[in-house]
Amino acid sequence: MIKRLVVGNWKMNPVANDSAIELAKDIDGAVAKLNLDNSKVEAVICPPFTEIEEIARISRASIAIGAQDAWPGESGAFTGEVSMGMLAKIDIDYVILGHSERRRYQNETSEVVNQKLKSALKYNITPIVCVGESEKGQHELVTKQLIESVKGLTSEEINKIVIAYEPVWAIGTGDNADGNYVVDVLTNLRTVLNNQGANQPSVPILYGGSVNAKNATEYASRMEINGVLVGGASINAEEFIKIIKAFS
Ligand code: PGA
Repeated sequence: MIKRLVVGNWKMNPVANDSAIELAKDIDGAVAKLNLDNSKVEAVICPPFTEIEEIARISRASIAIGAQDAWPGESGAFTGEVSMGMLAKIDIDYVILGHSERRRYQNETSEVVNQKLKSALKYNITPIVCVGESEKGQHELVTKQLIESVKGLTSEEINKIVIAYEPVWAIGTGDNADGNYVVDVLTNLRTVLNNQGANQPSVPILYGGSVNAKNATEYASRMEINGVLVGGASINAEEFIKIIKAFS
């Protein structure tokens, strides 16, 4: 059985004093009441770096914590960067890699994603590898991103990662991809993964792009969709909890 994940990507939000801590507490408290079996469904939040350590310390009861990026090297002259080893020191569970906003604004390539992914695995941090096309129907591009991102990984390593399919046209636009479209792409990605050696199909493949409390129920009803990566709706505790409930 493939674990289902509901991951909140807070991006560079929220900005008001203490609101990130309050938001994490609200989500953690509400998830605790759901009594999730974490081997089947897990809720994850990925706050900005400045809040991550405190949130990891105070809200571990029922949610897992992820970072939104990290540098693949161990240490050294990399101004502004944080390494996977540093994240491991504060017990981070997940790290988002290759988000389309980083591909766009930081020119992050799949080759860099591949290096980061290997570094994350070395520190037992589960990478959530994002892939997605800019325009509807560019399926080969998505396949290429996935193949390049997992290059050189053993089948055992591939089975430790999470994939998030996030079409760029659906992110933050309100134009979420319809269930059938997502299922088609995810089915193809699973075949690609299996061809790369992930012969035990335990890798969760998520969908992301304008997921909200309303449309989450449709995604949750499809067994091929192993969870969601949520941006905007994850910084509203009530909305995010509804999405988690849909998958639980
Ligand atoms: P969105 O963002 O839910 O606001 O569309 C998703 C993401 O960027 O991960």
